[in-house]
Amino acid sequence: MAQPQEDNLFKNVISHAKEYGFIFPSSEIYDGLSAVYDYGQNGAELKNNIKEYWWKFMTLLHENIVGIDAAIFMHPTTWKASGHVDAFNDPMVDNKDSKKRYRADQLIEGYIEKQEEKIEKEVEKAAKRFENFDRAMFVSTNARVVEYQNKINEVSTRLAQAMSNSDMVALKQLIDELEIACPISGTRNWTEVRQFNLMFATEMGSVADDANKIYLRPETAQGIFVNFLNVQKTGRMKVPFGIAQIGKAFRNEIVARQFIFRMREFEQMEMQFFVKPGEEMKWYEYWKEKRLKWHKALGLGNENYRYKDHDNLAHYANAACDIQFNFPMGFRELEGIHSRTDFDLKSHEKFSGKKMQYFDSEANTNYIPFVVETSVGLDRMFLSVLCSSYQTEKLEDGSERVVLRIPAPLAPNKVAILPLMKKDGLPEKAMEIMNDLKFDLRCFYEEKDAIGKRYRRQDAIGTPYCITIDHQTLEDNTVTLRNRDTMQQERVAVADLRHKLVDACSINNLLRKI
Ligand code: GAP
Repeated sequence: MAQPQEDNLFKNVISHAKEYGFIFPSSEIYDGLSAVYDYGQNGAELKNNIKEYWWKFMTLLHENIVGIDAAIFMHPTTWKASGHVDAFNDPMVDNKDSKKRYRADQLIEGYIEKQEEKIEKEVEKAAKRFENFDRAMFVSTNARVVEYQNKINEVSTRLAQAMSNSDMVALKQLIDELEIACPISGTRNWTEVRQFNLMFATEMGSVADDANKIYLRPETAQGIFVNFLNVQKTGRMKVPFGIAQIGKAFRNEIVARQFIFRMREFEQMEMQFFVKPGEEMKWYEYWKEKRLKWHKALGLGNENYRYKDHDNLAHYANAACDIQFNFPMGFRELEGIHSRTDFDLKSHEKFSGKKMQYFDSEANTNYIPFVVETSVGLDRMFLSVLCSSYQTEKLEDGSERVVLRIPAPLAPNKVAILPLMKKDGLPEKAMEIMNDLKFDLRCFYEEKDAIGKRYRRQDAIGTPYCITIDHQTLEDNTVTLRNRDTMQQERVAVADLRHKLVDACSINNLLRKI
């Protein structure tokens, strides 16, 4: 559960994102649309930079991975074959008094979190009392803590069983037994628990009957599976090889909350890696390690990432884990890595009647490859960057600054070009410098307000460098270069600017660290 301080951080990040042109509620003039957001001028740049970082990592650094861009609309049978029509459900329950809708499993998880908080409180109390406090010993022997822990274990097991058996009655029984109340009305007046399919449906063409019903894709992966042989044959790809894709996905989430963490329209960056059957575990471990390294190279703090194995494997997986990130509301899923077996290709072969097999010329045999998938939410990546780079600092003069310490290669603008005054030929000189730099670096030009104020505005949108053009520039062709993070200023020759800044802001240099 988020601590009050973390709640404040999250609230501040959300309002900062809006105030500085990163994220706006969708169609805000009509009071917004629940769990749908628009990316503003700075958000779109940051998002594009994250995409580039991912796309280049996958397709440039791996000669056996190619990228595609499949359509959002797919033949409806795709979703029968993938299991989404029958099994892409969440259990929902309504409170009859507040008329609010909840995910039944999340209500029960909330109960478990409360028990965990109780344990932490007991631990904190005891740690204050005893000098040589041994946490492990305390947790295993204190009667109250043991009781809480037993309850957690029991509820977790029953929840996992009910979820994997799609047992709605068992979920309702748990909600009743645990006396879970609606956070809004405070009552326990619940409806039965029902399955709710998360896919958005619409009609294609002019006749609205069932035959024309199609879905907005709930994951980008299926666009890769149905094109597996097209790409393999036209690209003369040899197993093992991968297909990468970035694109929109849509899910009618029952409870969409926590800003862009859980949205109804979002973007995924997915890669399906096709391997020889029997080799999937080796590749699963390989991609787990690779993907974590990719995240860590951003420098947002290694301690903010961890693996979490899935307790319940999806119908298609024989191994799966998440890379979790320490968001303001705690560690949550950022990316999923799944060993999907041959489930998808086999199922498409069955439903389409078309062979989905690879001919292995070395072994002179046909087989359906197994698949290891890496799937990261672009919006969650964005949120992880935004939250961990948002900082407030007290300065020596007693004032405060808000600074977004976005990794320079991802920052929306790389450099602000600031003539000290609006006269004496300084704006003209500034434009000359910008016209030289703008081919390699996204520049932001500003001549209004005092220089200190302009620096603060650039700090707030995460611009890593500011160049100030003053009267000395006209004499010796040097400028002041200010660093966002240290606020240090140095005098630099105009001729040296390009290579110095391009080096520091290059996505390619970031990739070299992985
Ligand atoms: N193809 C596999 C797949 O879609 P998933 O775990 O359901 O797996 C992958 O989703 C990633 O997509 C998640 O780790 C998360 O980052 C992102 N994601 C999923 N649902 C989302 C939502 N409603 N809003 C934002 N991102 C979401």
